[in-house]
Amino acid sequence: MQRLDKIIASTGKWSRREVKNLVKQGKVLVNGLPARSAEEKADPEQAEIVVNGERLIWRQYTWVMLNKPAGYLSATEDGCGATVLDLLPQELQRQGLFPVGRLDKDTEGLLLLTNEGGLAHDLLSPRHHVDKVYYARVDGCLTQADCEAFEAGMTLDDGLVCQSAGLEILKAGEVSEAHVTLREGKFHQVKRMLAYRGKPVLYLERVRMGPLMLDSSLSRGEFRFLTEEEVEQLRNA
Ligand code: URA
Repeated sequence: MQRLDKIIASTGKWSRREVKNLVKQGKVLVNGLPARSAEEKADPEQAEIVVNGERLIWRQYTWVMLNKPAGYLSATEDGCGATVLDLLPQELQRQGLFPVGRLDKDTEGLLLLTNEGGLAHDLLSPRHHVDKVYYARVDGCLTQADCEAFEAGMTLDDGLVCQSAGLEILKAGEVSEAHVTLREGKFHQVKRMLAYRGKPVLYLERVRMGPLMLDSSLSRGEFRFLTEEEVEQLRNA
């Protein structure tokens, strides 16, 4: 059993204060009857809760897709800088969400956040081979030799062993563009692999993680909840 305001605010759609007001206005129904207080308790798995005419779908875990802008750290806490958590409403921040893997501070694009530790861990485990796809703009002309080196796997000057990865050239020129597909996620890996090929990264954006593409309707800094189907796709990935 949990407090109504906690259950309803956990959806991220209403703050606890808003829930209180909605209850006062008789706009929160529990099993067809108006709730008397926001502190009233209910079983979120059993009770039919309707808020402002909308049937609440309660989930044990929360999953969100964020379109990360540059300038935010993929961390839950940072002494001096802004973290991706700062882009989420307070009610979501309180739910113990953490980023599923890291994007560098200057990398943009698809970042999942959740409080479901087990599935998050599986998605990141190299054993599960979940592809991560990045759009990269680099200084220098990408060639077929670069694609072959990515495909073969490479050992960088600093000893980092990189498994076979994908490099699809989108544009070759003084500044080139490509999609890079990784099945692992070592520190600064895309930047290090491309720097090793003598084509340093100028810009990096993650566009796909496993089955999920970055939602093009999300502006930088915006997030949305994953649908039940999307979470299921991650489970099957
Ligand atoms: N590889 C990088 O170099 N940076 C990222 O943010 C992600 C992958």
